[in-house]
Amino acid sequence: MPDVIPLRLEHAPSFRDCLDAVARESLMLGQSGAPSLERVQAFVADNVAAGHPAFVAWDGHQVLGWADAIPLWADGLRHRAQFGMGVRREWRGRGLGQRLGEAVIAAAHAQGDITRIDLEVRADNGPAIRLYERLGFVLEGRRAKGLCHRGVFFETVEMGLLL
Ligand SMILES: CC(C)(COP(=O)(O)OP(=O)(O)OC[C@H]1O[C@@H](n2cnc3c(N)ncnc32)[C@H](O)[C@@H]1OP(=O)(O)O)[C@@H](O)C(=O)NCCC(=O)NCCS
Repeated sequence: MPDVIPLRLEHAPSFRDCLDAVARESLMLGQSGAPSLERVQAFVADNVAAGHPAFVAWDGHQVLGWADAIPLWADGLRHRAQFGMGVRREWRGRGLGQRLGEAVIAAAHAQGDITRIDLEVRADNGPAIRLYERLGFVLEGRRAKGLCHRGVFFETVEMGLLL
């Protein structure tokens, strides 16, 4: 089984590949492809330096999935972290999502400054919503036209986990 380990700078190219594959295939993220490698490297470097909760499922060669909870930047919102995750399609249904989510939540607890984790998910994304409920997230609201891919709008739901 792959390890679930903190995201490191050396993971950036494979993390980008994984993000790109999941974004393109699932259309469940707020993006339909990954940003440039330079932007992903900057994102990883910033979050590693800041010690934000960010983990990857790593088989020693490639990133198979990720999860992170990145605090919002404004001083009045820094106690809130935005959760995101994805697992390569061929690796789903084996508990990696659960392990990644648990690792991020434990790190957010340990970090101390994060008092809530927020997320937004497509309302038709049953596997993700079931996983989030198992991780302790609760439904907080619904957003019509929350996401738009290729000209098609999707309802999203907002979920939160108080630490
Ligand atoms: C949401 C997502 C990250 C879940 O990842 P995952 O690794 O498949 O998650 P898990 O394996 O922990 O759980 C998925 C299912 O497999 C089941 N499962 C877990 N381990 C299992 C095992 N060993 N044997 C059989 N089933 C298992 C879980 O019970 C769960 O079942 P459910 O869908 O009926 O609730 C993944 O579906 C994904 O990447 N989707 C596309 C991107 C996405 O939606 N991201 C979230 C955007 S907000």
